[in-house]
Amino acid sequence: MPLVYQHTINSNTKTALWHIQEDEAFFLERVPLKRDVSHPHKRLQHLAGRYLLPALFADFPLEEILIADTRKPFLPDEKYHFSISHCGDYAAAIVSATQRVGVDIEKGSEKILRVSPKFLTDQEKMMLDEQMSASRLLQLTTLLWSAKEAMFKWYGDGSVDFREHMHAERVEGNDEEGRLICSFRKHDPLPLTVQYRFLHDLVMSWVVS
Ligand SMILES: CC(C)(COP(=O)(O)OP(=O)(O)OC[C@H]1O[C@@H](n2cnc3c(N)ncnc32)[C@H](O)[C@@H]1OP(=O)(O)O)[C@@H](O)C(=O)NCCC(=O)NCCS
Repeated sequence: MPLVYQHTINSNTKTALWHIQEDEAFFLERVPLKRDVSHPHKRLQHLAGRYLLPALFADFPLEEILIADTRKPFLPDEKYHFSISHCGDYAAAIVSATQRVGVDIEKGSEKILRVSPKFLTDQEKMMLDEQMSASRLLQLTTLLWSAKEAMFKWYGDGSVDFREHMHAERVEGNDEEGRLICSFRKHDPLPLTVQYRFLHDLVMSWVVS
């Protein structure tokens, strides 16, 4: 079944994860392709992400999506706030009628460990130093990266420094699901909670605020 996870966050906000097993023609029946995405797999991911939006709210007006200078997609009248992510054969989306949102899916990789000094604060590095196993270290580093990507999309205005402006203070949860208590410091510090869930070989993170 392609829809592998669906979650109603509140009466106005839903999120879902899709395992892409269909071909392009399946998505093109419902999704208008409004820009040229030359790589076939990236095009499939792009279409699958868009496909999820009306799957979450049937009256989502796909044809009205515009792209900001920051490359954030949005609806001009903000009937819905939404965010999309893709990774490998998966696509995720979050849609809210009332709140700003951000979603990200990530698969753990050596690359994330390698670049982690660029996006982790000293306190986050200390949190990771306490981890007992290499697999837990990779899982938590990937979670922190994904959470910051979700916050970046939630903010939507570009120019955010992942170390300076996004701080994860603690994790409340386990290796299936939970939340990260964060602070977003681009302007006056703002408490922000990032929800997470480990599904298949991915972590999925989302912000609603
Ligand atoms: C925009 C960004 C968040 C996309 O993340 P990604 O992991 O490459 O790709 P994802 O599949 O998760 O997300 C892609 C989707 O994000 C959305 N998106 C693109 N730019 C966006 C933005 N500025 N704000 C919100 N959403 C955005 C789009 O919906 C896009 O999918 P689509 O083109 O099919 O519609 C990422 O490329 C980026 O710029 N990150 C910040 C970089 C940075 O400052 N890094 C510092 C690290 S130290």
